[in-house]
Amino acid sequence: MFAKYEGATMSEVFVKINNRQLGPLNRREIKNLVVNGEFSQDDLVYHEDSQEWVEAKQIDELRTIFIQDEQQERRKTVYAVGGGKGGVGKTILTASLGIGLATYDHEVVIVDADLGGANLHTSMGILEPEYTFYHFYTLQRENLDDICLETPVSNLKLISGACGTLGLANPRYSQKVRFINQLRQLNADYILLDLGAGSSYNVIDFFLAADEGVLVTTPEPTAIQETFNFLKVAIMRRLVREFRKNVAVLSIIDQYMYSEPGRMQFTMDDLIKDVKEIDDEAAYYIENFLGKYHPRLILNMVHSSKEIREGDSFRTAAHDILNVDVDYIGFVEYDESVRKSVKELKPFVLDNPRSKAAKSLARLITVGILQKSGWVGYKEKRRVLQHLKAESVDYPEANVRESDTICSVNCFYWGDCDYQEGGYPCPIRNLDPIFKRNG
Ligand SMILES: Nc1ncnc2c1ncn2[C@@H]1O[C@H](COP(=O)(O)OP(=O)(O)OP(=O)(O)O)[C@@H](O)[C@H]1O
Ligand SMILES: [Mg+2]
Repeated sequence: MFAKYEGATMSEVFVKINNRQLGPLNRREIKNLVVNGEFSQDDLVYHEDSQEWVEAKQIDELRTIFIQDEQQERRKTVYAVGGGKGGVGKTILTASLGIGLATYDHEVVIVDADLGGANLHTSMGILEPEYTFYHFYTLQRENLDDICLETPVSNLKLISGACGTLGLANPRYSQKVRFINQLRQLNADYILLDLGAGSSYNVIDFFLAADEGVLVTTPEPTAIQETFNFLKVAIMRRLVREFRKNVAVLSIIDQYMYSEPGRMQFTMDDLIKDVKEIDDEAAYYIENFLGKYHPRLILNMVHSSKEIREGDSFRTAAHDILNVDVDYIGFVEYDESVRKSVKELKPFVLDNPRSKAAKSLARLITVGILQKSGWVGYKEKRRVLQHLKAESVDYPEANVRESDTICSVNCFYWGDCDYQEGGYPCPIRNLDPIFKRNG
């Protein structure tokens, strides 16, 4: 069978999927089926020598395809969920994406990287996380593994942020990269970072250092604008770092970077043209980087099909102005039940797995992130929703009364905070400028 090569091609075989016979298929076609999740090692292949149907895993020549696929699956991916505008749903989407990916038996860790207002734990109904980054940075716990908390969801762990400003309020770029590398040491397939709002370098650097950047925005013009600006700042920051030792190129980037805030007065083509005049190689680098950079985009709180198209407009603008292909991986509908679940401190996909929002999130995971298309995508979406329904049955109630203290995370202001009965997001971050001025 596959051992026989005819030039560059291999001989072909028949396979059976759900009692349907397909073929003859060559190795590449079978690999495509495996990658799309349509063919597994337990499915049947017709073995010509013995003239019988046998499980694919029994055929030596096919085994390597499955091994390669498993290796790809185990590849650790750090996703950073950001996007500039506050309150657009970064935190609750990070939690729900994590829960959805965990239904695939992937090991998932969600990480609260909002240095200003940690609240990922509350969105999971965990009110008093035993350990947080506070313990890590104050060396009370040595490894990130030690502050990785179990959650009520199988295969999902949480690293909780510390509220208030960390001692590491303004970490250096290298510290942020080291932090992401430390995260990669965790025993997990997916690591999702919930970033804070804004386009400060603290947020942008995490976005750039991760393997995949996910932009979250609502379809409102102000949110779209802020997200676009976030992307622009991220790209410029990346270029500044790349050319920090090339004074001539850096001065051109600087000129473009400090254009009037909120206004896109140039295109990347303009910048590349100027750079090309003095440094061909640098211009080529920039073109190449932009060509390979594919941040993803999620539209949240979508009200209508017209609003869904805002994602496409964003893509077009990013392509035309920034020369970047943004991958618009899907949207989540506006859904009152999400607000209710937030008040009950339950992730919305588990509070109401039948809701519109839960269904759109399941589609986003299967089609947008895991790229299962067509019939397989549909089947997978249903499987994820069924899994969520099963998980939702035993999900513990957070049991919070209005009067309860829920700001329970040890932070640098602990014991000296008027807001401890406060809520989430921690209001202390709004006071940061005051603290800085006084201190
Ligand atoms: N799909 C949705 N439908 C309805 N309401 C939603 C939806 N998504 C988010 N929300 C509302 O938006 C609020 C803000 O969500 P979330 O805290 O995740 O935003 P955020 O982007 O993390 O904010 P911040 O920038 O302050 O960290 C939620 O508490 C919820 O009430
Ligand atoms: Mg948040």
